[in-house]
Amino acid sequence: MWKKRIGYEKEGRRINLQFEGGEGWIEIVNPWVIHVFAPLHTQEPESRAVEPNALAFEECEYRVSEREGHLEIATEQLTVRAYDHFYVDVYDASGTPLCLDHRGERNPFQRRGNTSIAEDEGHTAMKTSNKHTIEVLKSMEGEEKFYGLGDKTGPLNKKGYEYEMWNTDDPSPHVESHKALYKSIPFFITLKERAAYGLFFDNPFKTFFDLGKENSDYYYFGADGGNLDYYFIHGPSVKDVVIRYTALTGRTPLPQLWTLGAHQSRWSYAPESRVLEIAEKFREHDLPLDAIHLDIDYMDGYRVFTWDNERFPDPVALSARLQDMGIRLITIIDPGVKKDQGYAVYDEGLEKGYFATDTDGITYVNKVWPGDSVYPDFSDEPVRKWWASLQKTMLDTGVAGIWNDMNEPASFNGPLPDDVQFKNDGRPTDHREIHNVYGHLMSKATFDGLLQTTGKRPFVITRAVYAGTQKYSTVWTGDNQSFWEHLRMSIPQLTNLGLSGFAFSGCDVGGFSHDATPELLVRWVQVGAFSPLFRNHTAIGTRDQEPWAYDEDTLNAYRQAMKLRYRILPYLYDLMREAEQTGLAPMRPLVLEYPEDSAVHELDDQFLFGSQLLVAPIVEQGKRNRAVYLPEGTWIDDRTGEKIEGGKTIVAEAPLDVCPIYVRAGTLLPAYPDRRYVGERKIEELLLYVYPGDGEYTHFEDDGESYDYRDGGYNEYKFSQQHQNGQLKVKLEHVHAGYNEGYTHIRTVVHGFTAKSATLDGQPIEFESEEGNTAIVVPASGGELILTL
Ligand code: GLC
Repeated sequence: MWKKRIGYEKEGRRINLQFEGGEGWIEIVNPWVIHVFAPLHTQEPESRAVEPNALAFEECEYRVSEREGHLEIATEQLTVRAYDHFYVDVYDASGTPLCLDHRGERNPFQRRGNTSIAEDEGHTAMKTSNKHTIEVLKSMEGEEKFYGLGDKTGPLNKKGYEYEMWNTDDPSPHVESHKALYKSIPFFITLKERAAYGLFFDNPFKTFFDLGKENSDYYYFGADGGNLDYYFIHGPSVKDVVIRYTALTGRTPLPQLWTLGAHQSRWSYAPESRVLEIAEKFREHDLPLDAIHLDIDYMDGYRVFTWDNERFPDPVALSARLQDMGIRLITIIDPGVKKDQGYAVYDEGLEKGYFATDTDGITYVNKVWPGDSVYPDFSDEPVRKWWASLQKTMLDTGVAGIWNDMNEPASFNGPLPDDVQFKNDGRPTDHREIHNVYGHLMSKATFDGLLQTTGKRPFVITRAVYAGTQKYSTVWTGDNQSFWEHLRMSIPQLTNLGLSGFAFSGCDVGGFSHDATPELLVRWVQVGAFSPLFRNHTAIGTRDQEPWAYDEDTLNAYRQAMKLRYRILPYLYDLMREAEQTGLAPMRPLVLEYPEDSAVHELDDQFLFGSQLLVAPIVEQGKRNRAVYLPEGTWIDDRTGEKIEGGKTIVAEAPLDVCPIYVRAGTLLPAYPDRRYVGERKIEELLLYVYPGDGEYTHFEDDGESYDYRDGGYNEYKFSQQHQNGQLKVKLEHVHAGYNEGYTHIRTVVHGFTAKSATLDGQPIEFESEEGNTAIVVPASGGELILTL
């Protein structure tokens, strides 16, 4: 539609472009990020992901000049050239091309044959996606790798794959042919030899992504509605792209510490005696646990915000009893409200016009768990406020967090028609525009409700999301299966979710549908121990998936993995703090930390936990060893203490109870002693594991639940070490003191180092040597420790 470019004007951070046949603009978000927009649907962008006060927006200088055949826009970091037809090419400051529009039409590969005969047998015919009203084609050079797009199926690198963003509740086993799952995060990262950059297509309609599948000369994204509205985000490192993308769409806020503990769930734990039995069994078997989830059967006939009086006669007493055992209750809340006169939530919503309607204004009805149900119109502020206020009914019974499910939104009587109407904060629209942000807006309302009522950091889990939902909620990957293939796939899913801004995520440990074998459960827990959200959850009718329901070996291996997770909780908490500050997720693909090492570009059966721990789990039945690639640097096998030079592949032994873990030399790793739940007892003495080398580390400590830390109510420690000529200097600095109930001591345990002498700030200090390690207890106020061999 855009033909010859006929003019431009500068308007603040925007450069308006006039073309024959249309208009558009380029906005300078900051020196590394530009925003390309054309008003094909609304005059101004109406982003649900990017808030006007997003961190990314910076005042910055830029120059615009007319050149032969194009307009040149230059920031300190980028040169952007705008051509006729609204072609946009982006170069770095030195003039090296980064991302160029492909000139020419799509030219998909041919599919051959009449597929109807195959369809007769039940095959699904492959189809090439149609031409879309919006299509942006970018040139491929051939060496690109693609990451992100949320938790799509398939490998870590999405090159050669196509996907769609249309939140979909499909319980069939998720395999590579699934183009869409529950989440729409239209953002991906392109890694080229020279640099990495990100593209965020902020269009909530159904969107399409082809990453060099139909033709290797270009990749493209497109949509059949909405605006042309995308951001180019320069790195040059993958990390910088993630940092800048999350400055735009927001970062995962620091969660309450207990939410990082173990969660246990099934569809469904009911009645209340069964819930108590589960809690007691966890304690009896010495298994750490912080939360039990109640699935849909706690409700009265699946009516949200109610309790079944027979199964759960006294939820207040139940949550109090669990709380005494250190266990919190989390309840599921779906969006579908039962169509049922006399049910307060339905009556009030109907009276106030809070539900989505058909084109005649009649409340739209479809079917979910409660039978005929109506859909709250979360696109409208009064409805979000109402939904937020409803959370109080749950919180008043002692519930500590809310699990939002079925918010794609799911429906059992066919999909919601395109023309279902939403009020959309004063600009009415239909389902095509709201579908992908429905779960996002529901989570936001839930988050606001929890915050208003408790004043603490809200704990919300959601299945459906749009870009930016990470500001309100943690996520899980939906209905996986107890299949080895799904355990394997969970690694690229969770690491790509992390690269897409979702730092707090997990999957159903053990698998949701189907029956987990003992071995699969053990191997899954070994991965789950390093996923930010740990929840063992399974479907109705499957075998019991609690560890004691299996044999002794399974129970022991499960316990071992969970105890390890609880010991390193302060490290995970630090990683969540880092996520809040930078957007980098705890669970990382190696390519995030080592983008220059081509050996890691496709590596998706091992991952990093933070930048210091490398986890190489077993994801195949019967395996007792595996190949592990260690990137450059010195790594320490956590089990044997062996030091290994990286830059090569090794073979790791992994009996059933072992998940190979490697620690970077120079690591300072905070840990806690064993606890059965987060608040069991106060931690007086922080454990600090030192793996000799050069390194530094920042550790954060606060009350683990309030927002006091935002007003300075926290302690921050800076730990560093230098290892030279048989001498190890460890500096422990207490750099911010704002939380009075902090540790009194730090027990420093130096791995593989038997000291002959030790001093603290020049004075001799007592130390113990045990099993080749040296342990020294110092006051939390810190000092400089010098250990000599
Ligand atoms: C959906 C959820 C699943 C839940 C079930 C019943 O399938 O994904 O986690 O157990 O609904 O509420």
